[in-house]
Amino acid sequence: MTEPEPKVATRDLTASFRGVTAVRGVSIRFPKHQIAAIVGPASSGKSTFLRCLNRLHELGEGAVVAGEVRLDGVDIYGPAVDPLALRRKVGMVFDRPTPLPGLSISDNVLAGFRLAGEEADRPEHLVEAMLRRVDLWDDVKDRLGQPALGLSSGEKQRLCIARCLALKPEVLLLDEPCSGLDPIATARVEEVLNELRFGVTIVLVTHSLQQAARVADTTAFFLGGELIEHDRTEVFFRNPQDPRTENYLTGRFG
Ligand SMILES: Nc1ncnc2c1ncn2[C@@H]1O[C@H](COP(=O)(O)OP(=O)(O)OP(=O)(O)O)[C@@H](O)[C@H]1O
Ligand SMILES: [Mg+2]
Repeated sequence: MTEPEPKVATRDLTASFRGVTAVRGVSIRFPKHQIAAIVGPASSGKSTFLRCLNRLHELGEGAVVAGEVRLDGVDIYGPAVDPLALRRKVGMVFDRPTPLPGLSISDNVLAGFRLAGEEADRPEHLVEAMLRRVDLWDDVKDRLGQPALGLSSGEKQRLCIARCLALKPEVLLLDEPCSGLDPIATARVEEVLNELRFGVTIVLVTHSLQQAARVADTTAFFLGGELIEHDRTEVFFRNPQDPRTENYLTGRFG
């Protein structure tokens, strides 16, 4: 049986900052409509790798990318690709929730359009639909015009996910989205991710092995900028193939 085409695939991806290599020769395939978790110790290149998938890495001074990243088979570093259009298809959510400070809850959902100088079609419907997708609608429907900064951290993070979703991304990159959240707020984000997988391909960097085990279809282990292992999550945790993965999972380093 042949494997289905992956949604995102990298080949020999290498990324550096002013000559210092942070990601080394990573070849990995992310199947469509699945959640892939990336785990690994600090400075193992997880965030840098993620930022190569939507061409954010290259914006840094002295940043260089080599190798290939394909989205539906098309090289995203090819000459015909517009990075801004690509970043709408491949959205990103960061560790600290970053609602735009001067804006209301509903304007935050629409912020992606405003930044692109566009108007959303039927904005009120879009705001409601996106807030429902992140399970925030019932909490905020009576205060849509109030500043987003009044929300709790977990609510802010779900709002940031809604802002990303408003642009209809095909891939969602999340860099430790729950690192500042308590277990209950974390569980709500995880529930949202679980629902989203039916329409979006998700790559989730997390420091929490438990989170990877709970939500991810596949899990990858990075060490020193290299991909050590990527497998179905249950295989990854129960039967890791590489001794370095096993050492990490059993807390021997990292
Ligand atoms: N802007 C930068 N300029 C120079 N070097 C950087 C920059 N950002 C990251 N690095 C280096 O690249 C390497 C990989 O960093 P990266 O942030 O990708 O790791 P990470 O796995 O996400 O770590 P963490 O778990 O701490 O978030 C590190 O050695 C780091 O010091
Ligand atoms: Mg990081």
